Amino acid sequence: MSFLELARKRFSTRKYLDKPVEEEKIQQVLEAARVAPSAHNYQPYSFVVVRDEELREKIAETYEYGWLKKAPVILVALGDHSRSWRRSDGKDHCDIDTAIAIDHLTLQAAELGLGTCWVCMFNTMQCHKILELPDYMEAVALIPLGYSAREGDADRHEEKRRPLPELARWR
Ligand SMILES: Cc1cc2nc3c(=O)[nH]c(=O)nc-3n(C[C@H](O)[C@H](O)[C@H](O)COP(=O)(O)O)c2cc1C
Repeated sequence: MSFLELARKRFSTRKYLDKPVEEEKIQQVLEAARVAPSAHNYQPYSFVVVRDEELREKIAETYEYGWLKKAPVILVALGDHSRSWRRSDGKDHCDIDTAIAIDHLTLQAAELGLGTCWVCMFNTMQCHKILELPDYMEAVALIPLGYSAREGDADRHEEKRRPLPELARWR
């Protein structure tokens, strides 16, 4: 599979099979995040791999839609603002770095036949409390991981994405 085929294959999975994810696959997905680039190579991100049913339920409750509870694994992506790079104008690159690592992870998952979905519309303060995080850590996103109960449509980008000429200006 070429990179572009893989990028087209990944889709937001909101329906998961009741099937556990092999630990080696979780490790491989995390490895893809580990090798991601980051500003100054500061790597200000980490992940909490939530498999425990009780904790998973608590984390899923920070999001208002019930489908998240069905995912067998939830990766909580954390950004560490105490180690992220700040440009001289003060811009904190924590979110950018964390997003790149997550993107690596979701693409690796797709290659392994696993579904993921970015979830940012959750109550991050509540999640912060549940995981007893220090002030400088931010719960950036919840990434459910599991076998999808649906097939993605790799052709959907034709209509669901802006056309290339709108995206890039050549000068
Ligand atoms: C930063 C970010 C936040 C997102 N937050 C949510 C979310 O809270 N809930 C959800 O169902 N989908 C969420 N999504 C998924 C997007 O809706 C989805 O990526 C987009 O509609 C494109 O569809 P596709 O991923 O299937 O290609 C998020 C995606 C990104 C990149």
